[in-house]
Amino acid sequence: MKNSYQLSNKNIVLGITGGIAAYKAADIVSKLKKEGAQIKVVMTKNALNFINPLTLETLSGNPVYYDTFEHRLNAWEIDHISLAKWADVMLIAPATANIISKARCGIADDLLSTTIMATTSKVIFAPAMNTNMLHNPIVQSNIAYLKDLGYEFISSESGILACGDFGDGKLAKVDDIVKYVKDFFLRTTDMSNMNVLVTAGPTREYIDPVRYISNPSSGKMGYSIAQVCAERGATVDLVSGPTHITPPTGVNLYRVETAREMYDKVMELFPRAQIVFKSAAVGDYGVENKAKHKLKKTKDTMELKLKKNPDILKELGNQKTNQILVGFAAETRDIEEYALKKLQEKNLDFIFVNDVSREDAGFERDTNAGILFTREGDRVELPVQTKRELACRIVDEVLKRI
Ligand code: PMT
Repeated sequence: MKNSYQLSNKNIVLGITGGIAAYKAADIVSKLKKEGAQIKVVMTKNALNFINPLTLETLSGNPVYYDTFEHRLNAWEIDHISLAKWADVMLIAPATANIISKARCGIADDLLSTTIMATTSKVIFAPAMNTNMLHNPIVQSNIAYLKDLGYEFISSESGILACGDFGDGKLAKVDDIVKYVKDFFLRTTDMSNMNVLVTAGPTREYIDPVRYISNPSSGKMGYSIAQVCAERGATVDLVSGPTHITPPTGVNLYRVETAREMYDKVMELFPRAQIVFKSAAVGDYGVENKAKHKLKKTKDTMELKLKKNPDILKELGNQKTNQILVGFAAETRDIEEYALKKLQEKNLDFIFVNDVSREDAGFERDTNAGILFTREGDRVELPVQTKRELACRIVDEVLKRI
């Protein structure tokens, strides 16, 4: 019986868009309701052609919303804002190419699209459309873009479609959609008692006040890890070198520039951390003879003397008591050998190694791939995927072993 109430106290806004699979929304409402969820349905104008709101009102026990200007909540409330705030999650099923494209572009021209724009809760799309539409590069790029922003997608299935074509684009099974929503709520709380420390981005080693040595790290990998942990309920300290990307919401962000500054901040935060993801690309060497004033180009050659920076991760490995250390390794050859050496030498629990010479992985790219090694000798191959998806996989692999 415990399972029957897994969604009790959860508010779900179900968005239904205009596709033949809209009739399955009735079953989705019914099954989510049986799991204890509160459901409010928002329909697009086109969805009204496929299923009668009365069915959904009866099943959900709530009014169905489809007109921005007809207030079905209290007369003084603005529906899309109230619904957006009320939702613990928004599920769009079926989701047409149109609603996905509108979300990608930030278009808010009806009640459903305005609610999607206004919510700060997770939005999960369950696409359903003709195969050629689904595989259209525009739709694929919209899906990839939204995934990168943290929107989630329940993959459609292959089968005979309403138009008679065979292929991908069939709405996922209702039971799978319901399970996805249940798993989502489990996932959002599975790190709720954890403190996580993440480092991201490059460091800068100054030659003089206006010049520095650095590397191309964008911070995308580390920010994705931080975002995923925060979404799963962790308290996240993110120590970041200089980046141009938007920091994830809900994390404690500490900006640093040099390896020394990163060392100091990480050491200060380490005692309260339970897991450390060390994805920053830290400069191994700093400039010993840093000039106080801007250097003038008076000579044809110039010598810089470099000295080793503190190895932050190695120091964490020395100091650790029961913290879990996840190191990252950026390599261009013999990647496994070097990664395993770092795992040992820095006393790590995990190391993720990426081959940064690949076109589709490493610095700056939106995608990454690599291998996660564990202290116990496990080897998990992680194929190319968006950095956010990879962050989810790395976090999953770490959590299931600790
Ligand atoms: O930021 P992006 O553009 O998304 O790129 C992601 C990434 C390629 C930077 C990331 O996936 C990655 O590989 N990060 C580790 C980069 C790195 O410094 O690797 P390394 O092999 O040189 O160092 C090994 C580990 O020791 C790292 O966890 C590093 O943070 C740590 N280290 C290194 C030197 C140092 N002085 N102190 C450290 O803590």
